[in-house]
Amino acid sequence: MYKVGIIGWRGMVGSVLIQRMHEENDFFNINAQFFSTSQAGESVRILKSQESILLDAFDIGALKKMDILLSCQGGDYTKKILPSLRKKNWNGHWIDAASTLRMDSDAVIVLDPINKDAIKSAIEAGNKNWVGGNCTVSLMLLAIHGLIKENLVEWVSSMTYQAASGAGAQNMKELLIQMGELSESLDKIKTNTNILDLDKEVQLIMNSDRFTKKLFSAPLAGSLIPWIDEKLESGQSREEWKGSVETNKILKSNGHKPFSVDGLCVRIGAMRSHSQALTIKLNNDYTIEKIEELIASANPWINFIPNEKEESIKNLSPAAVSGKLSIAVGRVRKLNVGENLISVFTVGDQLLWGAAEPVRRVLNILTNKTT
Ligand code: HSE
Repeated sequence: MYKVGIIGWRGMVGSVLIQRMHEENDFFNINAQFFSTSQAGESVRILKSQESILLDAFDIGALKKMDILLSCQGGDYTKKILPSLRKKNWNGHWIDAASTLRMDSDAVIVLDPINKDAIKSAIEAGNKNWVGGNCTVSLMLLAIHGLIKENLVEWVSSMTYQAASGAGAQNMKELLIQMGELSESLDKIKTNTNILDLDKEVQLIMNSDRFTKKLFSAPLAGSLIPWIDEKLESGQSREEWKGSVETNKILKSNGHKPFSVDGLCVRIGAMRSHSQALTIKLNNDYTIEKIEELIASANPWINFIPNEKEESIKNLSPAAVSGKLSIAVGRVRKLNVGENLISVFTVGDQLLWGAAEPVRRVLNILTNKTT
């Protein structure tokens, strides 16, 4: 049995990962050891069958004993630990949920429904570093998998509506606190029914100094933030840049035709599902029926929503999708602004297919788990 060390299992992505591993009985296939950056030596109940004594996540000797290390601990931990391990000739597999290694030439971005062949070839070639992709990239590629398989895509413009979870657990809490602070004005609804007065009250609260915005540095509840991550020289945000470079790294690795991706990444007040409005330039004029059929049948996780008002409102939203592995895809129609242009709206859980699921699945591939 492979000895698998898991670091960062208590965090948000790590917790979702552990939950999914239980659901899929992954722990029966591995000898799992749990590492901690702060509580080594303590006993915890993660496995159903036994208590686990936490190992020290900074103990290179203990880490070196693992065949596989899976980190959800974040990029700083990766930067600190992985080079030391490799320097000490550790030749195990490193699986990472953080972005640090993604664009390194010796790291494969894993999204096995799209690039399983590339993963298999990389294993044969002796690759040891495996990294989950950016959440919007993984969710978008799965959503338009059917068009990718047939090499129909010329370019994509992706306008995102990203949930608070992408910024971290504390940011999700800040969003809720902001919602709570805005709802202070609710009391006034009872005594004042004038909507313009109520709106003014909300506006005053969200722009006042006492409004909680330590992490987002702006109101997200009742508003939005049109910037995610740092500014690059191109004028893109780093999140927008990732959309193109990571997509193409994944596509090229598996022999798919690469295409350009660009658009604006926007944070909205959803909890844990990212939405994306895609404008897609196709390489030819296909019937809408063919496009729908390709998208709907591409992989088992697509929940295709016909371009109808009621079904879209009911099923194509973070409220409908969060906590589910399925990726909702809808609003597919031809756009009237040019040739061979279609719209697609897609929503996926940022913590499942957007983060934990690709790394969970590559662990199973590396440990030859048969499903
Ligand atoms: N960078 C993403 C976000 C989440 O901020 O929403 C991680 O892929």
